[in-house]
Amino acid sequence: MWNDLHPLGRHPTTRGYRRYAWTPADAECRAWFTAQAETRGLTHEIDRNGNQWAWLGDPARGDAVVTGSHLDSVPDGGAFDGPLGVVSAFAALDELRRRGTAFTRPLGIVNFGDEEGARFGLACVGSRLSSGQLTRDRAHRLTDGDGITLPRAMEAAGYDPDAIGADPDRLARIGAFVELHVEQGRALDLSGDAVGVAGAIWPHGRWRFDFRGEANHAGTTRLTDRRDPMLPYAETVLAARREAGSARAVATFGKVAVEPNGVNAIPSLVRGWLDSRAPDQRDLDAVVAAVEKAARAHADAHGVDLDVVRESFTPVVEFDHALRDRIGRILGRDTGHTGHTGDTGLTVPVLGTGAGHDAGILSAVLPTAMLFVRNPTGVSHSPAEYATEDDCVTGVLALADVLEGLIHP
Ligand code: GLV
Ligand code: MN
Ligand code: MN
Repeated sequence: MWNDLHPLGRHPTTRGYRRYAWTPADAECRAWFTAQAETRGLTHEIDRNGNQWAWLGDPARGDAVVTGSHLDSVPDGGAFDGPLGVVSAFAALDELRRRGTAFTRPLGIVNFGDEEGARFGLACVGSRLSSGQLTRDRAHRLTDGDGITLPRAMEAAGYDPDAIGADPDRLARIGAFVELHVEQGRALDLSGDAVGVAGAIWPHGRWRFDFRGEANHAGTTRLTDRRDPMLPYAETVLAARREAGSARAVATFGKVAVEPNGVNAIPSLVRGWLDSRAPDQRDLDAVVAAVEKAARAHADAHGVDLDVVRESFTPVVEFDHALRDRIGRILGRDTGHTGHTGDTGLTVPVLGTGAGHDAGILSAVLPTAMLFVRNPTGVSHSPAEYATEDDCVTGVLALADVLEGLIHP
């Protein structure tokens, strides 16, 4: 499976993945998913929001066990964030068939569309739409950096944008969703475990800061006459780092757009996106408020206008305790794992994470859980993202154990 996936959407120079929603690279990944489903004799369906499902057994029977993740990527993403969960899902099914498991509940494998939000700025669009946490109207207004709206992009990819929206009946057929994911930090490396389970996802959001000044000549405009939006922007980046550092939070300006973007022109507009996250909502609110306050003060000092727009927000997600504990018991029992026991009594480590996931979005409407696979460097959202083959196999076997345990309580 990896051999077929590796070339898809990979940039020849950076070696990173650029699998953005509704692009040809995305279509290639989707075709790969369909082929994997067909090879295994699974029923393949695409829901109204473009999420792909592969079914063993009839999902209409309900109480289905579903696993999977996403195939899209951030700009120059790694090979594992997303695809590891989908590849492992198919591999776990193969393992269960090898074991001769009797499938008494329908088993589904899913590829959620546009998880990273790399193109339209909002993460987890597929799962948000299906679970009713993103309205069709708002989704229709999403626009990419080239001015192409989400509906036009969907249409160009052969999908019907008017059909998108909440899909409660489809989700009601699911009894449990388990997403396996490469870890995006070093907790498992430090604890010496190949696999962990998710405890909570930090609250997180994205804010757009528009600094508007005045375009002018870089050579002839006296420094005192300038209204240069780059200056308050730069101060704001530093403020974000400072504020996050003095709270238990992270804050990142990872994307910036400059107009007119000329070497010899003072910018008229600097638009920067703040991504901020914290274990606790109060800390997050305080950090973002402090960054905005600093941005306003610096904008004023430079005669620059500032607009701040919250583009998305995801509250803290505490994964379903009953499902998590059940998974812990399954893994403790079936893998003979002897890792440390946390305050939950689990024999696998329970990790909090600052990364968003479809499983977190879906936890609002159904029981969800996550398995993490060790990432020896912790690097993620980068071509250097990595997990060893041994750990990936351990992850597949753990996922197979979990699915089997859920199918046969
Ligand atoms: C998704 O990976 C996110 O946490 O931004
Ligand atoms: Mn990601
Ligand atoms: Mn992911």
